[in-house]
Amino acid sequence: MHLLRVENLSVSYLTESGEVPIVDRMSIKMGMGEILGVVGESGSGKSMMALAIMGLLSPKMRMRADYINLDGEDLMKMSVEDRAAYVASKAAIIFQEPQASLNPCFSIASQLDETIAFHGGGGRADRKTKALELLDDVGINRPDLVLKMYPHQLSGGMNQRVAIAMALACEPRLLIADEPTTALDVTIQSQIIELLVKLSRAQQSGLMLITHDFALLSENTDRIGVVYSGQLMEHAATENILSSPHHPYTKALLDSIPQLGDRHVKGSRLFALDGNIPAIDQLPVGCRLGPRCPKAERQCVNTPELRSIENYGKVRCHLASVSSVNKAEADS
Ligand SMILES: Nc1ncnc2c1ncn2[C@@H]1O[C@H](COP(=O)(O)OP(=O)(O)OP(=O)(O)O)[C@@H](O)[C@H]1O
Ligand code: SF4
Ligand SMILES: [Mg+2]
Repeated sequence: MHLLRVENLSVSYLTESGEVPIVDRMSIKMGMGEILGVVGESGSGKSMMALAIMGLLSPKMRMRADYINLDGEDLMKMSVEDRAAYVASKAAIIFQEPQASLNPCFSIASQLDETIAFHGGGGRADRKTKALELLDDVGINRPDLVLKMYPHQLSGGMNQRVAIAMALACEPRLLIADEPTTALDVTIQSQIIELLVKLSRAQQSGLMLITHDFALLSENTDRIGVVYSGQLMEHAATENILSSPHHPYTKALLDSIPQLGDRHVKGSRLFALDGNIPAIDQLPVGCRLGPRCPKAERQCVNTPELRSIENYGKVRCHLASVSSVNKAEADS
């Protein structure tokens, strides 16, 4: 049973001259309790995909999908209200800036209390006990003191821990962490990632970890999805991707890691290949990686589709182990 199955998710934004596509038919799967890493250069559509799953896109955005199945229910078949309530009961998201999850005008106690109450946390005393437990779970030493504080009185790392506690208060089956450490000091980054992984493993909840940092994913995930220019390029078990990446972009990303294990360079960005990700309204003909791809050849002017590779995963490249392609489109 999958926790999350997304099939052909597309997102576009509306302009006066029409819709501009920014996420193109993205399909991903996560098993129960699985940790999925999503990696890709800035502007590749990682956040839009996450916001679409959560139902948090701005009104100027449009989304379509064959289905988004979260813990057994298809979100695409629900009304807006039902969907919002269902997602709130099953999933939570934390952002790069903890301030995005915290209100500067209210104490940590009141914000945590409101979230716990919303999720049926019992009477006042029970809710306070729960808030203290949550802060303790996320590694805050003096939860009683922190409860009385406001976000501006805490460091970035502490605020991110509080944001994680707020997310956990929803008891989510799925937690999406969208670059949760990019804004933090180097030493704090690894602590937060370790915390997220530990909590996910302990609670058997799914974790979608969105990042630029491939080294970080290599150590902490079960599966990895590599995205580029709004498309999924490769999606496979982490061990498969690390041992035999099939897509030239994934290979370039892996080659660009100075040293596996040498991670958490603050603000690190992926500069795996010469050139830049194409502007979404100036996409190249055929493969979107074409102009930057070291392996490009004549057939790459045709658009590659995402294909299943037997005993591997899914890859969007004409050159990906053609002999081993499973024409039956087996589930990866
Ligand atoms: N509010 C918006 N209106 C129009 N286009 C947007 C908006 N936000 C993002 N985009 C565009 O959508 C595309 C995908 O953006 P997205 O933020 O999902 O990328 P990302 O992979 O999360 O990047 P980053 O790593 O920098 O967070 C980009 O081309 C971006 O310019
Ligand atoms: S389809 Fe061609 S251009 Fe695209 S990644 Fe594969 S080899 Fe490179
Ligand atoms: Mg983003």
